[in-house]
Amino acid sequence: TDLDRFIAGLPKAELHLHIEGSLEPELMFALAERNQVTIPFASVDEVRAAYSFSRLQDFLDIYYQGAEVLRTERDFHDLATAYFDRAAADGVVHAEIMFDPQTHTARGISFDTVIAGLLSGMAEAEARHGLTAKLILCFLRHLDEEDAFATLKAAEPWLDRIAAVGLDSGELGNPPEKFARVFAAARAQGLRLVAHAGEEGPPDYVRQALDLLGIDRLDHGNRSLEDPVLTARLARMGMTLTVCPLSNLKLCVVESMEAHPIDRMLRAGLRATVNSDDPAYFGGYIADNYRAAAAGRGLDRDDLVALARNSFLGSFLNDDEVAGHL
Ligand code: ADE
Ligand code: ZN
Repeated sequence: TDLDRFIAGLPKAELHLHIEGSLEPELMFALAERNQVTIPFASVDEVRAAYSFSRLQDFLDIYYQGAEVLRTERDFHDLATAYFDRAAADGVVHAEIMFDPQTHTARGISFDTVIAGLLSGMAEAEARHGLTAKLILCFLRHLDEEDAFATLKAAEPWLDRIAAVGLDSGELGNPPEKFARVFAAARAQGLRLVAHAGEEGPPDYVRQALDLLGIDRLDHGNRSLEDPVLTARLARMGMTLTVCPLSNLKLCVVESMEAHPIDRMLRAGLRATVNSDDPAYFGGYIADNYRAAAAGRGLDRDDLVALARNSFLGSFLNDDEVAGHL
């Protein structure tokens, strides 16, 4: 349709994408074979059939299992280029991608292997598509602070290639306060800060992410809307929310796309953006997310333009680079 073409043609930045969550079942099988890793599925269809979740943890269990096929620098390179090719087709001109080093270092894959593969994939994306990219190192919040500090230490030789640190994995029971010191250390090293908060967790976790972590950008943030004072504060400070409509639907953060709060966020003055989170698991890349939100909530072209504009304003590009995209 016209709207589909409009969405794909709209230049946009992707700000919330877990590269391990872009591992399509076909590549999972290819890497399992290449690396002689066994996976508990007989076919691509069987893998897809397993992607039915009633909460975040259901997804995380299968997502960490899927990542086990990733072993070599070439695997991470191939994973990244597959994502960038797909993103470029959706009109993404800049992507700030998250990776979970602890998922790999816990299996004996070195931090250097992971990041070298991702960086070479980024260089290829820029050469092939002119798509620019930045890296966000995420700490797994179900692990302890000490493990996060060890990960930050492993990242030290690569700090000039990392834009930010983030916080992901199971939110409930793992509040931002658990990582206040490691976030302060990351900030002292010149890194920007993001955190998942208010996806399943309460508004107080969002408040902690602001007050105790000092985040520059909020991943998800949906449950902030339960608290009008917090919502007004986020609007006033110009905080960017990286919202992920299809993820919210698949993880039962919303009951239906018709109930998604994306337009309420915009009306509340929040700098909301649309992103794909883990597209291989949630049934769509970024243009699918724009389409689903537009259909579910009757967004018009002005809303879609505002969302795409917010994605550049909320990025970690410098002012000149942002201006070049607006
Ligand atoms: N890791 C990958 N996707 C995630 C999400 N949506 N929430 C928390 N952790 C994640
Ligand atoms: Zn996420």
